[in-house]
Amino acid sequence: MHSKLFMYRKWQFSLAIVAAVLSVQAFAAGDAARGKLLTDTCKGCHAVDSYANAYPAYHVPYIAGQSADYTVSALTLYRDGNRTHPTMRAQAATLSDQDIQDIAAYLSSAVKQPDPAATVRGVAPSAAVACTACHGAAGISLIPMNPYLAGQQLDYLEQAVLQYKNGDRKGPNAIAMQAQVNALAEEDLKATLAFFAAQDGLEILPMN
Ligand code: HEC
Ligand code: HEC
Repeated sequence: MHSKLFMYRKWQFSLAIVAAVLSVQAFAAGDAARGKLLTDTCKGCHAVDSYANAYPAYHVPYIAGQSADYTVSALTLYRDGNRTHPTMRAQAATLSDQDIQDIAAYLSSAVKQPDPAATVRGVAPSAAVACTACHGAAGISLIPMNPYLAGQQLDYLEQAVLQYKNGDRKGPNAIAMQAQVNALAEEDLKATLAFFAAQDGLEILPMN
């Protein structure tokens, strides 16, 4: 009798968990159609292939195809001042949590979704093993909070690494990243970033 009651409770409990997980996913999915409208103001930079940040000079990152959970995190970090880039802070300043969810939903579906099982192009430098555990063998992670690096602008990746090293990017994951990039020799880091940039993955934001 007791064990039957226990099983019933357990069953109820797992249903509650399933419901909670489903509702979180529904929220995380965002409204891509609304997100598309909200990205109009982003195109002047993110939909122009040759567009470079003025100083220091590096390409504006590719954001189309990026993992939605990571984009939510990145935009929230700019909005809340944990990432210091002035233009992006200004861009994100007025976005609500829902706006950010919707933008992330659009960006992740705006182009062909990168495939974590994609064949690796070329040969990974040996130092890349320090990174592939989190970022995926071809720079496309199975863990949604870890950014896709595949196909990203190389000079942007280098700039991002510099920001972790300098402590210009903050937040719980930035601290972990700082330790990761500090552990690699400069040459190994350069070769690893070049390897990720040469993979198929992220793309420029479509104009329409
Ligand atoms: C004036 C040019 C400009 C505009 C407009 C702009 N961005 Fe950016 N964006 C940048 C630059 C430059 C960076 C790199 C910043 C850094 O070094 O942290 C960036 C970074 C980002 C990142 C982080 C990418 C990553 O891999 O971490 C996201 C996400 C992003 N932008 C989304 C947007 C969205 C959404 C909009 C529109 C609401 C927008 N941007 C408007 C220039 C711009
Ligand atoms: C423990 C998991 C983990 C490991 C190992 C790891 N990363 Fe990361 N990486 C992350 C996470 C999470 C972020 C997002 C950090 C944030 O919030 O800014 C990130 C961010 C980055 C970014 C910024 C991407 C962008 O779009 O702005 C680069 C570049 C990067 N990692 C390169 C590397 C390299 C190179 C290595 C190996 C030396 C490495 N990572 C190892 C988890 C990891």
